[in-house]
Amino acid sequence: MLMRKVPGFVPASPWGLRLPQKFLFLLFLSGLVTLCFGALFLLPHSSRLKRLFLAPRAQKPGLELVAEVGGRSPPGKREPPPNPALAEPALGARHHRVSPRRKEWMRRAQHLKEWIPRAHPTEEHIPTTASSSLLRFDFEAFQRRLRHPVLGTRAESTEPQSPVRAQREKIKEMMQFAWANYRRYAMGKNELRPLSKDGYQGHIFGGLNGATIIDSLDTLYLMELKEEFQEAKAWVENYFHLNVTGEASLFEVNIRYIGGLLSAFYLTGEEVFRSKAIQLGEKLLPAFNTPTGIPKSVVNFKRGNWGWASTGGSSILAECGSLHLEFLHLTELSGNQIFAEKVRKIRRVLREMKKPYGLYPNFLSPVTGNWEQHHVSIGGLGDSFYEYLIKSWLMSAKTDTEAKAMYYEALEAIEMYLLNVSPGGLTYIAEWRGGILDHKMGHLACFSGGMIALGAEDAKEEKRAHYQELAAQITRTCHESYARSDTKLGPEAFWFNSNKEAEATHEGESYYILRPEVVESYMYLWRLTHDPIYREWGWEVVTALERYCRTQAGFSGIHNVYSTAPRHDNKQQSFFLAETLKYLYLLFSEDDTLSLEDWVFNTEAHPLPVNHSDSSGSTRRPY
Ligand SMILES: *[C@@H]1O[C@H](CO)[C@@H](O)[C@H](O)[C@H]1NC(C)=O
Ligand SMILES: *[C@@H]1O[C@H](CO)[C@@H](O)[C@H](O)[C@H]1NC(C)=O
Repeated sequence: MLMRKVPGFVPASPWGLRLPQKFLFLLFLSGLVTLCFGALFLLPHSSRLKRLFLAPRAQKPGLELVAEVGGRSPPGKREPPPNPALAEPALGARHHRVSPRRKEWMRRAQHLKEWIPRAHPTEEHIPTTASSSLLRFDFEAFQRRLRHPVLGTRAESTEPQSPVRAQREKIKEMMQFAWANYRRYAMGKNELRPLSKDGYQGHIFGGLNGATIIDSLDTLYLMELKEEFQEAKAWVENYFHLNVTGEASLFEVNIRYIGGLLSAFYLTGEEVFRSKAIQLGEKLLPAFNTPTGIPKSVVNFKRGNWGWASTGGSSILAECGSLHLEFLHLTELSGNQIFAEKVRKIRRVLREMKKPYGLYPNFLSPVTGNWEQHHVSIGGLGDSFYEYLIKSWLMSAKTDTEAKAMYYEALEAIEMYLLNVSPGGLTYIAEWRGGILDHKMGHLACFSGGMIALGAEDAKEEKRAHYQELAAQITRTCHESYARSDTKLGPEAFWFNSNKEAEATHEGESYYILRPEVVESYMYLWRLTHDPIYREWGWEVVTALERYCRTQAGFSGIHNVYSTAPRHDNKQQSFFLAETLKYLYLLFSEDDTLSLEDWVFNTEAHPLPVNHSDSSGSTRRPY
């Protein structure tokens, strides 16, 4: 029972303990847990810890026990967090999946580890790619295979007064401003805190630095901010060290750092980006040493294995399902098959697991390969798994038919069980808990309009128009969540209840932390339909960002989108530069700028090239 509730402690079984030993061990363990968490109440700052015990229905299985041991049941309501960052756990997967709250718990649980007799899982030897044996990648041949010039022809730009050009310039100015302030106050740190004018490291990158720099490289390149790009590149060359020893989120390091470095390489051909991407990729490999090959969420850079007590035991669908694009490119650029093997294994396990009603639950055990909970969501925790299926298909130049089949099957199940239309006529994708629906959508789930639009073209003939319409409807709903707020920025989550539609129902979910998902969908819908409404909506976001999020020293998230004098959260997220500003810029660019024929965007908006390797170099269009 304990084991089922606390998958974090499951690793008992891989150690091969017998039943009586297991029982004794568990007894010992539960004693310890009770002691430690009891003791926590006596510590100072207990009000801060309380938030941990009062977690709303634990999003990560590991937290449930915590709530019970603390003698409190998780209530339905939570106090509004003073800092949106603290309310993040709900989110899961797209950003900050390892929440500060959870991280705090992990830190406290740290000393537990030292008490527990530990047998390391046998550490598999990882064949590394010595930099000297790196395969030579023919960058020029790669460039010749692209169908379009990377930055497009900018045809409309020849007309100097073109309004769309002015809009694009405005967004470029925002990027310049965000970068300049990061550079001035936080260069080398992971993120800028614009109010306190200093840097922020965060807990999810295992000691790696410069998240904003690596996340910004391709955006700076795209916007032709050449000087800034050179500054960023020089930092990577001189200061981006991989000799770090912390615990990192496999997912976050992959989508931000590996994704950012890979894109920077494919855009420029600069060797430094390729070699750093590969070296960092190798540091992530120990996360895969599990009985099933489903990676752990957290990798320990120091010990070269995954930390077990700190991982909560379960793996998250969106985390292990969002490695495929980057890892195939790591193999492509290194010649080392191990990366591709790791993600093919994950694909196989997920494909073969039995799915309730064809749905993919959000949590699974890396030890047994079983689902841990029947919670299904296209928002945080689930989101980018689906995204990477359709994008794997597109990135493979439409040869990965397995990904294609898995995507359309999953989408049909989602439509069947999760899709809803509100009494007011808004289409939304609800969350599913063992058959019961939560009529809410997270901001994170708003990427799905763009995803469904992107996948519409390759659906069965009779479904194509339907998916296009569905994508447009979901995007309209997400726009409503912005339009119905006082700031014209959308809340973290919004509900479809009796009298409120597309609005947050309490303050704890009313924050906006510069997230990209809604403008991401505008960008795809614009590219695929050219309906001018998407540019209008995108411009509303630009205006609102300028009015409410721009501060003297950078952009900041806000605590409450329903207040016209919102407090700032003092954080310029790296994904604001990687994604929000990039998608806005692309929304006001022509279709051949990072053309969708040549590029797929990873879930941090880093462009990776479509595999045109079958065609000869002669297919380039005569621009
Ligand atoms: C990593 O190595 C660089 C030099 O190679 C050094 O300056 C830096 O202090 C090292 N960092 C750590 C955490 O060891
Ligand atoms: C591209 O396709 C070739 C040929 O099928 C394959 O060998 C290669 O691994 C693919 N590259 C990527 C990044 O998927």
